[in-house]
Amino acid sequence: MTFAKRTDWNTAPNALTQALERIKPSPDFIDLTVSNPTLCGFRYLEPSLLQEFKNPQNLLYQPDAHGLLEARLSICAYYARRGAAISPDQIFITANTSEAYTFVFKLLADAGDQVLAPAPGYPLIEYLAGLNDLKLERYPLCDNGGWSTDLNALAGLMTAETKALMLVHPANPTGNYVAAEERAALVDLCARFSAPLISDEVFFDYAWNPQVRPDSFASNNRTLTFTLSGISKILGLPQMKLSWIIVTGPETLRREACRRLEIISDTYLSAGTPNQNALPFWFSREETICGEIRSRVRENRTMLEKSLGTHTRVNLSKGAGGWTSVLELPEDKQDEAWALHFLEEFHTALHPGYLFDLPAEKSYLVVSLLVPPDRMHKGLGRLKLGLG
Ligand SMILES: Cc1ncc(COP(=O)(O)O)c(C=O)c1O
Repeated sequence: MTFAKRTDWNTAPNALTQALERIKPSPDFIDLTVSNPTLCGFRYLEPSLLQEFKNPQNLLYQPDAHGLLEARLSICAYYARRGAAISPDQIFITANTSEAYTFVFKLLADAGDQVLAPAPGYPLIEYLAGLNDLKLERYPLCDNGGWSTDLNALAGLMTAETKALMLVHPANPTGNYVAAEERAALVDLCARFSAPLISDEVFFDYAWNPQVRPDSFASNNRTLTFTLSGISKILGLPQMKLSWIIVTGPETLRREACRRLEIISDTYLSAGTPNQNALPFWFSREETICGEIRSRVRENRTMLEKSLGTHTRVNLSKGAGGWTSVLELPEDKQDEAWALHFLEEFHTALHPGYLFDLPAEKSYLVVSLLVPPDRMHKGLGRLKLGLG
């Protein structure tokens, strides 16, 4: 027998994963790659978050292709607080953001169709496109003292055959929000090529500077737009499995997209009843949860700036939000060699840039901003030592 070609992944461990296996058990190991907020010592993770699971409503199964109404109303309120007016019939609740991407891909593209996503970017996009039999092309983000879309390169890649333009706002791992003029240019391109836009906004609420007030693409009605988000990041609850798609755009197109998405979603009905019933309560804790994670991320970013901002051998990428930061290191070693150096000599794990498709001609490392600050402080000390 044979397996589907789309599953022909290279799963052989590389030098870095082998070294990690070996070094992780050391008592002095420091992991500067942590991305799971439930393992980062946050105080918000207390048993009272589970209180709604005892709600007798959880014993009923009354599925709705859009998701349960009370949950959708709480999502509408979340967007209203961010200046976007959304009605519940524009929302589809999914189990996670990967599933949200999959539903939108099923709606927009057939096998072999082209979709565009940014590079550097979120590593799972490649798998999501592959599992949906799509041809993924990457458009570049450039580092001009802060990362942004290379609009000329993107315009050169878009055609009438482009089935979707994806962006991440703010981007992972580079941390750039789509700026106002960039947004206008992206929407123009989508209008010119009749290409729907997919905006992944899972890190939207994690601006490093309180003055930064980005606009969600959920307020874009000019072209067909799918805004994806969920509680794995905005409420720090990845284990609860709840995300959503917001559909906006010109009314006729939007209605047709929703009509078709209803059938896709109805085929899976994967979001659980207890977590949907708990969503309004979890949103009532938003300030506590998101506030605690945001303070951590800001504290770590400030520590990074103080520690490495003026270091002669490191260029700390500018960025503006999210849970990661990008470091550019001297090119005397490639990114994987630097990551191995810190892991083997200093028992400190960092992600090499290639994992996120950062430009291979430079040596980038990616550091998580979720790390408990005392670990971060120690880890940065080792980084400075290891830089020589
Ligand atoms: C840009 C981006 N989108 C989506 C996700 C995953 O979200 P979920 O846990 O809801 O599938 C991640 C996870 O790191 C991410 O970085």
